[in-house]
Amino acid sequence: MLVSGKELFQAAKKGGYAVGAFNLNNMEILQAIIEAAEEENSPVFIQASQGGIKYAGIEYIAGMAKVAAEKAKVPIALNLDHGTSFTQVVQCVRHGFSAVMIDGSKLPFEENIAITQKVIEVAHPNNVSVEAELGKIGGVEDDIKVSERDATFTDPDEAAEFAERTGCDALAIAIGTAHGVYKGEPRLDFDRLAEISKRTDVPLVLHGASGVSDEAIRKAVPFGICKINIDTELRVAFAKAVRKVVAEQPDEYDPRKILGPAKEAMKEVARAKMRLFGSAGKA
Ligand code: G3H
Ligand code: ZN
Repeated sequence: MLVSGKELFQAAKKGGYAVGAFNLNNMEILQAIIEAAEEENSPVFIQASQGGIKYAGIEYIAGMAKVAAEKAKVPIALNLDHGTSFTQVVQCVRHGFSAVMIDGSKLPFEENIAITQKVIEVAHPNNVSVEAELGKIGGVEDDIKVSERDATFTDPDEAAEFAERTGCDALAIAIGTAHGVYKGEPRLDFDRLAEISKRTDVPLVLHGASGVSDEAIRKAVPFGICKINIDTELRVAFAKAVRKVVAEQPDEYDPRKILGPAKEAMKEVARAKMRLFGSAGKA
């Protein structure tokens, strides 16, 4: 069933686990995530970035996701990932999203607070949760591009003040992860995470989690990480499975026979993440 992101954040915070947030932009990815959640009896965030919404169209994303969520036997929140404009947020709220992220991390602190507060004014009365971002996560996620040089880690004092002044439901923090495929082993700043976790009990969100070791994830969750975003590992699994079919059966032209194995591959990635994050069995 479709639920507010707030419900998933609160339950994860209370239960000491993280809920996976997986990006979708087509039917097979959506089905893979939902099937994984049902097989793992896990809550889940399904989410679309602005790039995903542009690619599929908001009517398709919202329509598919809401049908899938209503049919599903587990709680599902539909999230706007890395929203950068109030207009985009309003469009998603109007189309039945149950969670939004307003990514004001590129703005000066006070402006980030202001836009987050403005989004909360329109989201909360519609039972839509609001995730904000403080500190700039590096890498590329569709239209969000942050160079290594510009990436800045989250300041623990600012995080506490930000959460207090905005009343956001969750806060995405920058502690060393980055979007996209890592060139080397990402080194998470656990001391910084511990400091943030000491100063605020707002549910924390880890972006750029594809390619982060299982050990690092297990170490991070107890510090209040309640949502963990995965996009790249699904994309890589999808592309690898499609290439395998095309290479082994070059004459195959039935999309179901090409995309079906890709869906299964993505489902297995999502299932493993739900077990790793601790959300499996928590639906
Ligand atoms: O917002 C989406 C995620 O942060 C994507 O992270 O590229 O590591 O999968 P990822
Ligand atoms: Zn992200």
